[in-house]
Amino acid sequence: MSPGRVAIAMTTTNPSAWARDRVAAALVARAPEIAARTATVAPRLERVLAAFAAERLGVHHFASVSGYGHGDLGRETLDRVFARVLQAEAAAVRLQFVSGTHAIAAALFGVLRPGERMLSITGRPYDTLEEVIGLRGEGQGSLAEFGVLYDELPLTAAGRVDEERLAEALAVPTRLVLIQRSCGYSWRPPLPVAEIGRLVERVKAVQPEAIVFVDNCYGELVEDLEPTAVGADLIAGSLIKNLGGTIAPTGGYVAGRADLVERACCRLTAPGIGSEGGTSFDCNRLLFQGLFLAPQMVAEALIGADLVATVFAELGYPVHPAPGAPRSDVIQAVRLGAPEPLLAVCRAFQACSPVGAYLDPVPAPMPGYASDLVMAGGTFIDGSTSEFSADGPLRQPFVLYVQGGTHHGHVGLALERALVALQTLPSLEAAGAGSA
Ligand SMILES: Cc1ncc(COP(=O)(O)O)c(C=O)c1O
Repeated sequence: MSPGRVAIAMTTTNPSAWARDRVAAALVARAPEIAARTATVAPRLERVLAAFAAERLGVHHFASVSGYGHGDLGRETLDRVFARVLQAEAAAVRLQFVSGTHAIAAALFGVLRPGERMLSITGRPYDTLEEVIGLRGEGQGSLAEFGVLYDELPLTAAGRVDEERLAEALAVPTRLVLIQRSCGYSWRPPLPVAEIGRLVERVKAVQPEAIVFVDNCYGELVEDLEPTAVGADLIAGSLIKNLGGTIAPTGGYVAGRADLVERACCRLTAPGIGSEGGTSFDCNRLLFQGLFLAPQMVAEALIGADLVATVFAELGYPVHPAPGAPRSDVIQAVRLGAPEPLLAVCRAFQACSPVGAYLDPVPAPMPGYASDLVMAGGTFIDGSTSEFSADGPLRQPFVLYVQGGTHHGHVGLALERALVALQTLPSLEAAGAGSA
C-alpha cells in the first residue's frame, strides 16, 4: 500500500517545490544520523593517517617500476598500508584486479583445490559469482569445472544466516566458508562485523581448519572494525567502491592471512611470481590519496543512503535498511515494484550526473549477470559505484540499489529530480509499487 505517496502526488501543483521540500524534510529528519556519520570520519581517517605515518609514506612512493614491477617500493608500501587499515596481517592492492568479482575469484581459485568443498552461509552469492562458482554458464573454467564442490545454506525468510542449520551445513569437511557482508542484489540486511565475528567462531568450532572468506564489497570503513579484525581469514573487494575514495582509476584488493593473500596473488599473476610482480602504472598516488579520502567519501555515501531511505519510505515504498537503521554497507535498496518507476528514477539520477547527463539509461545485458540491468552511473571513473550511482536487475520485485556519492548535496539534488519524475508517471498503484 502506498496511500501517502499517491495522496501527495495528487495534491501537488508545483512538483519541483514539493520535491525540494521532501528532501529538505529528510535532511531535518536525519540530522542526528548525519551528525553521527560525520563524527565517524575523524577516527577512521586517524587510522589511515596512522598507517601512512607508520609506513613513512613519502612522494617517492608515488612512482612505480614499469615492466615486471619487481621490487616496487610504492606497491609494497601500499600493501602494508592497506593491511594496517584493514586490520589484517597482509594485503595485496592491485590495479590488475579488474573488479571486485575478479579479486574474489582470485581469492577463491587461489585457496581452493579440486575435491575441496566451499560453503556459502549467506545464501546465493552475488550474481557475478554464479559463473565463477559454476552455477551458471559452462566451458569457462569455473570452480565446479576444476572439481571444487559447492553448497549453500539459504538465508532465513528474514534474510539472516540460518544459525539453527549452520552446524548441520558444516557437518562435512569444508575448506572454505563464504560470507557476503553486503546485500548484493537481494532484499536482506547487510551483516554487521560483530555478527561476522560470531559466525567465524561458530564455523571454527565445527571446522577448525576451514578458511572463512568474506566478500567485503561495499562494506569497507562503514564500521570501526573490518571482518579481518574479528577472525575472517581472507577478504576481498573493489577499489572503485569504498576504499578507492572515488579516485582510484580501477583495481581491487585481497587482505587477511599472509599465506592466503599470497595464494590469491599466485592466481592473479602466476605461481612463483605471486605478490612480487605487477606494475602500478605510476598510479600509486591515486591509490594512496583515494584511501586518504575514503573515510569522508564513505560517510557521505552513508548520509546519502539515509536520505534515499527517508524520502522513498515517506512515499510508501519499502526500503532496506530502514531510515536511520544501523548500516554495515553503503547500499540502499528501494523496492519500486514495477519497471516504470525503476527506469524513471534511474533516468532522473542519470540526468543529475556530472558526466553523461544527456544519456538515457536503458536496460541491457551485462557481462557476469543473468538479468538485464539498468544503471544510472554518470561517474568520472567508469562504473564507479563509490560515486553516486544506482542500478538494478530488471526482474521482480524491481528493486533499485543506490550507492555512493561524494557529497550528500548531490544525492539530494538527484532525489529531487527523481521525485518530480515519479509524479509524472501514470498510475503506479496498478503496477503494485509500494506493496510490502
Ligand atoms: C556483494 C557484492 N559482491 C561482489 C560484487 C562485485 O563487484 P564488482 O562489480 O566490482 O565486480 C558486488 C557488486 O555490486 C556486490 O554487491
